[in-house]
Amino acid sequence: MKALVLSGGAGTRLRPFSYSMPKQLIPIVNKPVLVYVLEDIAALGVTEVAVIVGDRAAQITEALGDGSRFGVRVTTIHQDEPRGLAHCVELARPFLGDDDFVMYLGDNMLPDGITAIAEEFRSGRPAAQIVVHRVPDPRAFGVAELDAEGAVVALAEKPSRPRSDLALIGVYFFTSAIHEAVAAIEPSARGELEITDAIQWLLTHGHDVKAGEYGGYWKDTGKADDVLECNRHLLGMLRPRVEGDIDATSELIGPVVIESGARVVRSRIVGPAVIGAGTLVEDCRIGPDTSVARDCVLRATQLTDSIVMAGASITRVPGLHGSLIGRSANIGPSDHAEAHHRLVVGDHTHVEVAA
Ligand code: DAU
Repeated sequence: MKALVLSGGAGTRLRPFSYSMPKQLIPIVNKPVLVYVLEDIAALGVTEVAVIVGDRAAQITEALGDGSRFGVRVTTIHQDEPRGLAHCVELARPFLGDDDFVMYLGDNMLPDGITAIAEEFRSGRPAAQIVVHRVPDPRAFGVAELDAEGAVVALAEKPSRPRSDLALIGVYFFTSAIHEAVAAIEPSARGELEITDAIQWLLTHGHDVKAGEYGGYWKDTGKADDVLECNRHLLGMLRPRVEGDIDATSELIGPVVIESGARVVRSRIVGPAVIGAGTLVEDCRIGPDTSVARDCVLRATQLTDSIVMAGASITRVPGLHGSLIGRSANIGPSDHAEAHHRLVVGDHTHVEVAA
């Protein structure tokens, strides 16, 4: 079996981050979503992985290298524009040949792993094995309708009136039958070649399409709130480890990770929380539910339920909560004596200030 990872796309719901970084590199507990994806694929024993990339290919290549760190061999395939999930399958056809493959959306997190689903596919080899998960509002997803025996009856992409609460989640297994389906479908109303339509084509043409319900934790990390929620979930499993320096006046409470080269001075860190390598935390209250990446500087700041990305610095901000702080962002007091706020923020930035 081979693997196809989708890491192109526009990521408009994750602006402003997606202006400067592919959304699949957003860190959850200081590790990019895409790395979790590759680790999941490697756990299946799959070694040949094609990654679809858009115009931020260089950052993805930098993060993944040739894949050997994760026990796989990565081939990147460039997509000029986000033309749809099924378009990615079409682009990858020379790489995939007639092999079975798992398609994994590069912004989806399934931290409980996908080995059980892969086993189901390997034993029955249906033309398509989809994975579904019950969600309160399925309108933002592909939706599957199953009959009483659990057989797939119909699929719809982001229906305004969903016929079930079963969302398609971002892992699909296919035999080479999918290529005929992809060649047969037309772009949807939003102008994309939808994989949901290709799977519906398989159903309509009498192919075997199986659905397995996934009971573990799943998150599409396409939006800021979902990124934070996923971070909280994974921090909930944190195993404490201290490699950096903690001075005598600092306090660590609950599960806390302090990576090597990090320094904690006159601060209180409440777990679950992670302080990345080389980061300085001075006179701060950090956590719970917070991950701070490497090489940040945090001074006289109070921070809870947040993600701070590499190289950011935050000085004298007393109450930061539920925040996503981008790479090398700089937040701190005004150089001027007057009590005013001064913001230099990019397009589509979201700032909420305490009244
Ligand atoms: O998260 C599950 C949902 O993912 C499913 O329920 C939907 O049926 C499926 O269409 C998909 O919906 P999204 O609107 O969330 O897909 P998104 O545009 O976020 O793309 C998913 C991943 O694929 C993401 O990592 C970007 C990448 N992608 C997307 C497109 C459209 C590409 O690499 N190329 C593309 O052309």
